[in-house]
Amino acid sequence: AMRQKLVAGNWKMHGNLVDNQALLLSLRTQLVGLRNVSCAVFPPAPYIPQAQHELTGSAIAWGAQNVSKHAKGAFTGEVAASMLLDFGCKYVLLGHSERRAIFGETDEMAAAKFMAALTSGLTPVLCVGETLDERESGCAESVIARQIDAIIEVAGVSALAKAVVAYEPVWAIGTGKTASPEQAQAIHAFIRQKIAGLDAGIAQGLMILYGGSVKAANAAELFSQPDIDGGLIGGASLVADEFIAICKAAQ
Ligand code: G3H
Repeated sequence: AMRQKLVAGNWKMHGNLVDNQALLLSLRTQLVGLRNVSCAVFPPAPYIPQAQHELTGSAIAWGAQNVSKHAKGAFTGEVAASMLLDFGCKYVLLGHSERRAIFGETDEMAAAKFMAALTSGLTPVLCVGETLDERESGCAESVIARQIDAIIEVAGVSALAKAVVAYEPVWAIGTGKTASPEQAQAIHAFIRQKIAGLDAGIAQGLMILYGGSVKAANAAELFSQPDIDGGLIGGASLVADEFIAICKAAQ
């Protein structure tokens, strides 16, 4: 395919200085010379400078798990996109299902954060996906369409030329229950076709990652699907050998 692949490790709220050091060193030394695959890690915010320190000069990028919609001001506890850029972040995750379900983030909030990221030069990684209830009641596609439309409404379809989409079925996150390659491919194709209806070129170039219980043992089969352009890896991204194998499986 003409699209590059991306394998991104979302560390969620895990890690400490000592463990991170070992993990980053393994990634730095072993993720070299990959063909057509980019790799990135998303540590908790306090460890972003550590990632920058350990990964500068390597082939691995880093990003943040969240960002404020505001540029600056009296917003206690928030982190601005410009601050993430100061520490070399390339990407930021937006609309992760944990942000939506646990912290009440709406489509509108994800769209505002998307704009803040984009205007400051971060690449947004927009996470979308349906819950088990939504899948079982036949609403998976309409939920995902709504989540994407909220972004397009605010940012325009052209903004997707500078973004990445991650499809993460909520029922597959941290459950050990991955979507089958066919199930995932069907949704990825749906997302691409939906965007192609607005702009075929942007749809063709858009990286759409799969997330949800990806591990070394199932990565290659998922990544071989025509519309799956890599993965957003949670638990397995904390284990060096697993994450390295997953990155290699994307080649
Ligand atoms: O952002 C990553 C996803 O939520 C997947 O997490 O690989 O632990 O299922 P998981």
